[in-house]
Amino acid sequence: GKVAVLYGGDSAERDVSLRSGEAVYHALIEGGVDALLFDPSKRKLNELNDLGIKHAWIALHGRGGEDGQVQAVLQYLGISYTGSGVMGSAIAMDKWRSKMIWKSMTLPVAPHVLVKETQSLSQDLLRSITARLGPVVFVKPSREGSSVGMSKVSSPDQLEKAIRKALEFDKEVLVESFIEGREYTVSILGEQALPSISMVTPREFYDYEAKYHSNETQYFCPSGLSDQEEQELGKLALNAFYAVGCKGWGRVDFIRDNKSNEFKLLEANTVPGMTQTSLVPKAAKQKGISFNQLVLEILKQSL
Ligand code: DAL
Ligand code: MG
Repeated sequence: GKVAVLYGGDSAERDVSLRSGEAVYHALIEGGVDALLFDPSKRKLNELNDLGIKHAWIALHGRGGEDGQVQAVLQYLGISYTGSGVMGSAIAMDKWRSKMIWKSMTLPVAPHVLVKETQSLSQDLLRSITARLGPVVFVKPSREGSSVGMSKVSSPDQLEKAIRKALEFDKEVLVESFIEGREYTVSILGEQALPSISMVTPREFYDYEAKYHSNETQYFCPSGLSDQEEQELGKLALNAFYAVGCKGWGRVDFIRDNKSNEFKLLEANTVPGMTQTSLVPKAAKQKGISFNQLVLEILKQSL
């Protein structure tokens, strides 16, 4: 049957999703799949039934599309969809709750604190966060993507402003100890971990600009790990991915602590970017899987 590529949406990552969706759509068409592009922020999802759609390829990023809401509606409408189910999508979108699960399994995460909208940002609270996590921290909306609303705080006097900024995007904010080290990511396709990629940016961190606009961001794939490290990282990524209830495909992000050499889990993504230059397609290519093959494989797994 016909496949609807869901893209766009109304999250903060709409622009990225439009690019992912178009790339996925073209790959499906080139692969001989009868596909159409569908933006749920413009039309209602229940129109899919009227259109006779039986399958959806979800290329929506961020809240609303990647967090279980669209997945639940599709399930209700009897439409199969790519990637993780309702629960895995919801948990993975939530960085703090993901970390709670990983911690309980003794998987490695950076020290962190949750701040809620309902808390008053008193000097006592701010001081206690600094005392616990150190003066240099990352502040993130718990449920966002592409580094939207995120700041690196280099001294305690910037902490309050950074928390207020993140609170504009979510009512729960994660404050994490800054880990000096390089970022790595492991793409997951079905049951396998694809070769890791490491990212290096001259910017303060791998932010929205570094991800989508800068031509100074460097990507290394192979990432330079030894065979054994690569295997261990792949296992850790799969473990973390399954622990939060994810399946199908996705990407797990890490930072490697320069001091201990240990990898710390940052988050799992259930609908990672799928433009021609995105990370999962890069990792697949290293494994000999073309962009079009990747798109078709992700669809196949969902059927
Ligand atoms: N949230 C973006 C799309 C990613 O993880 O690639
Ligand atoms: Mg993310």
